[in-house]
Parts: sequence; C-alpha cells; structure tokens
Amino acid sequence: MADKGGLEGVVVARSRLCSIDGINGVLIYSGYDVGDLAEHSSYEEVCFLTLRGRLPTRAEMDEFTAELTSHRDLSEETESVVDMLATHAAPMEMLRTAVSSDSFDDPDKDSNADDANVRKAMRLIAKMPTMVARYHRRRTGLDPIAPDPSLGHAANFLHMLNGEPVSDAAAKTFDVALILHADHEMNASTFTARVIASTLSDMHSAITGAIGALKGPLHGGANEQVMKLLQSIPEGTSVEDEIHARLERKERIMGFGHRVYKTWDPRAVILKRFSKQLADESGDPRWYDMSESIEQTVVSEKGLYPNVDFYSASTYHYLGIDTGLFTPIFAMSRVVGWAAHVIEQHADNRLIRPSSEYVGPAVRDYEPIERREAPAVV
Ligand code: CMC
Repeated sequence: MADKGGLEGVVVARSRLCSIDGINGVLIYSGYDVGDLAEHSSYEEVCFLTLRGRLPTRAEMDEFTAELTSHRDLSEETESVVDMLATHAAPMEMLRTAVSSDSFDDPDKDSNADDANVRKAMRLIAKMPTMVARYHRRRTGLDPIAPDPSLGHAANFLHMLNGEPVSDAAAKTFDVALILHADHEMNASTFTARVIASTLSDMHSAITGAIGALKGPLHGGANEQVMKLLQSIPEGTSVEDEIHARLERKERIMGFGHRVYKTWDPRAVILKRFSKQLADESGDPRWYDMSESIEQTVVSEKGLYPNVDFYSASTYHYLGIDTGLFTPIFAMSRVVGWAAHVIEQHADNRLIRPSSEYVGPAVRDYEPIERREAPAVV
C-alpha cells in the first residue's frame, strides 16, 4: 500500500491503556468494554482505572473521589487568568492558556516521577471543569459558582455552569459522555502529549500541547462544527438534499469518518441513544431528527459512519450546553487519558523523533544577495 502520510498504521508506543478494534467497532479501556463502563461505572471510577490500571474497591473509590473533589478550586492566579481571558479569548484558547499557566504554582511542577505525575493529573482533572464553567459564567456576565463537594464530577460541572439543580438523568447522561471521551488510543492529541513527554518535558506542557491538537476540526473541534452544521440547515429544507450537495462539492461532513473505525464508532452508538432520549423528553426532536437524516445520507452515499463527535453535539445541545464549550468539554474528559499516556511515556521513555523523506532541491551554491535574480513570473 502506498504511504498516504499521517503515520497511518504506524505503532509508536506500547500501551496498557486503551485498544480499538476498528473493524468490529469495539473500544476497550484497560481490559473493559466502554459499553460496560458507560452502563455501570462513573467518570471518577474510569479515572481510577485509567491512572491505576484496575477498578477500585469501595474504600479506594471513596478516597480517590474525596481527593479529586478537594482539588476543584482554582488558585487566585488561575482565577484571574480565566477572568481576564473570558473577555477576549475563545474557549479553547482560554483552556490552553489556563492549563499552561496553572503549572506556575503546582508544587510538583519540577518532577516527572510517577507519584508527582499522578498528583498533577488529579489536580488537572479536578480543575479543568472549574476553569470552563468559570470562563462561561464570566463571559456571559454571570458570577462564577463555587464547586459543590457534595456533587459528583459530572453533576458538579453542570451545576457550576448553570447554577441550577441538576437532574439525575442529566448528570448520568453527562457522566456517560465524559466516560466515552476519557481515552482513545493513539489519537492526534494523545500522540502530541506523548511526543512532548518524550523530551522529558512536564505534565502541564504535554497537556497544553494536547489541548492545542484537540482544538482542530479534524479532531475534537468536530463536535462544535457538527452543531454549526445542524444550525446552518434552515427548517423546512431537505436535509438529505443539503448533505448531498455538500458531498457533491467534496465538503467533509463533520462527525463522520475515522482513521481506525471502519464501522460505527461504539461511542456514537451510545450517544445516539442518549440524544434520542433527550429529544423525546424535550419535546423538540428537531436536532435528533436532523442528525439521523444526515447519518442516513452520509452512510448510504459515502459509506462513512458517525464518530463520537456526531451525536455528542445534539446530546450536549439538549443538555443546554453552549456550542462553544463542546470541545473544552472533550478536553476536560480526555485529560485523564492524556495524563495516563504521559505517565506511561515517562515510565519507559525514549525520545520520539521520527524521520522525514527529503524532497527539496539538490545541494546548490550559495549566491550573494546582489547576484540573485527573482524567479520569472509565469
Ligand atoms: N466527509 C466527507 N468525506 C470524508 C469524510 C467526511 N467526514 N471523512 C473522510 N472523507 C473522505 C475524504 O474526503 C477522502 O476522500 P478522497 O479519497 O476522495 O480524497 C477519503 O474520505 C479519505 O479521507 P482521509 O482524510 O484520508 O481519511 P482519514 O482516515 O485520514 O480521516 C478523519 C479521518 C476523521 C480526519 C476524517 O474522516 C474527517 O475529516 N472527518 C471529519 C472530521 C471529524 O469528524 N473528526 C472527528 C474524528 S473522531 C473523534 C476525534 O478524534 O475527535
């Protein structure tokens, strides 16, 4: 097969964290099927699993959750960074900058030891939702809401965002969405984090770089683009005709296709169910119905299946979440996967330094500037 670039099929690390069967649409975290985790587990438990490689006992779970909860508050410095960015930075710019600057006062910033890395991971997992919620409140002219230690990770985020009591159903849906985004083998942002870690740079640098990689529309930025696509199709228009026309123009339909899955992404199967349930409960089926029409058109015309970003868009929208926060929410879930990959990389490191094939000009003589001629304009 000719090399199409993009490191397709290249194995860059050995990992105990996550595996994908792209032919059968199966995703495994440390030996557990993501469907089982979505049904029975919680985001906190998946964090334990991802960081420690096994599921916790009840006592371990309680201790782990208490520690995570204790780290939710931001330092005054990070609060002021978020507040300053709320007026003029886009959501992912804020998160990238706030996570980067949060290393300044991290007591473990100078250590890449396993235990220090786990402590930094715990702090980042706990603080990123507070950053996102605070930023959103500030930019919409509202006062930030302090984290509520009586609430779980998912419910606390929704509470900090909206300042209203969170229903069990909303908390469960959001918790499942967080579980589904927690890790995903050697995706572009995880690879970025591992490359940065492989220079023996630190956890915050690796996570900052990963956020930058996630932001792109071919990766985590796709969920926001899906919602914009849904909103761009006026009511009464044929969704099928609109999508057909876009495909004719060779446009990419965001939320479809995947480098590894050649069938349904198992995360999309679960999110589709949640989107449908929320649509039924809301009495406003429009976003789900449009999504399903787009799905049918793209599957039949291109043979491309929905990925995680497709039905997460309508799910988040039904939960009342602002579209601009979709990709930051992806990041605040994926942070555990990134951090676990950084820890793995530091534990068995070799500098990641691939090669490139040179296709530039042959070796040539250096001409002094006075003797150079501009190339002829064709
Ligand atoms: N819509 C229309 N055509 C597509 C799409 C799409 N979503 N995805 C791939 N194609 C076409 C592409 O135009 C190309 O056609 P041709 O051979 O005629 O030039 C062919 O399929 C192969 O594309 P590719 O870019 O080489 O495939 P890839 O395996 O590198 O792409 C992908 C993977 C995810 C970048 C791509 O499917 C895509 O751009 N999808 C839309 C963006 C998206 O949903 N990203 C989220 C990915 S999953 C979650 C995450 O990581 O965040």
